[in-house]
Amino acid sequence: MRTLWIALLLLFSGAKPSEGAGVFTIVNECKTTIWPGIIPGDSFNGGGFALKQGQSVVFKAPVGWSGRIWGRTGCNFDRNGNGSCQTGRCGSSLKCSGSGETPATLAEFTLTALNFYDVSLVDGFNLPVVVTPVNAQGGNCSSAGCDGDLRRTCPSELAVRVDRETVACRSACDVFDTDQYCCRGVFGNAATCQPTYYSKTFKTACPAAYSYAYDDPSSIFTCSQADYIVTFCSNRKNRVCSYHDNRLTCSGTEGGASARKWLMATVLGLWGLLPLVLL
Ligand SMILES: *[C@@H]1O[C@H](CO)[C@@H](O)[C@H](O)[C@H]1NC(C)=O
Ligand SMILES: *[C@@H]1O[C@H](CO)[C@@H](O)[C@H](O)[C@H]1NC(C)=O
Repeated sequence: MRTLWIALLLLFSGAKPSEGAGVFTIVNECKTTIWPGIIPGDSFNGGGFALKQGQSVVFKAPVGWSGRIWGRTGCNFDRNGNGSCQTGRCGSSLKCSGSGETPATLAEFTLTALNFYDVSLVDGFNLPVVVTPVNAQGGNCSSAGCDGDLRRTCPSELAVRVDRETVACRSACDVFDTDQYCCRGVFGNAATCQPTYYSKTFKTACPAAYSYAYDDPSSIFTCSQADYIVTFCSNRKNRVCSYHDNRLTCSGTEGGASARKWLMATVLGLWGLLPLVLL
């Protein structure tokens, strides 16, 4: 037994979790299939794919990647990847090469030496999104995004309905097109563009997301080096895990708990029982 532990410890120190390197895990916790759209999408399966309920997928972003990830709902694509969606569509293509149609919740990233990321509802909301950094070094590196589903609390004048069901919530700027809601003209700076009744409704559902254009201090986050788990239809309090390079990493467990979990995964993995851990 003692020998086994020493062997494991050696293995453990040799294969210590490395610092983050732009690995993205995209997880669908929704009750239905979604079709993530990603631009630029060259390293993300061409920028679009179907993700069934409970599925996750792992990608490695290119160095310096700057882009956005959103979810599309209610899609129908033919065998050639041609079709349409109820929300978030990028033209008629499964693989996105341009922005998605609003309203759509966006996860935005700029992976410079310091990574910047946020969840934005400035172009409306279609799905709850949470961005959770893992394997991070420093920065105010916490979970961005939603605690609730704005489709349930969307003011009726902003709601997009299909068969009387709210499938998305438009931004007040999109619906009313005024300088105040769009932060333009005399409202074109952080001092004059203040929260409104509508942006406050958005902020309640997604406290760590942009609810209007100048909502910066509580909405933009930084990490120096990290991997990211982007989860649809979850909330910031849920633990999320990514399995990548024979390694299981979970959110909110940078200390001993994570090491123990990881060791467990390693031990079980050695016995070929890894699928059980993932269940
Ligand atoms: C793609 O589908 C749309 C309808 O969704 C159709 O109008 C268009 O002709 C199709 N394009 C191709 C290349 O099949
Ligand atoms: C995180 O740090 C950035 C850059 O220093 C800052 O602009 C932002 O307001 C901070 N975000 C939070 C939520 O504290």
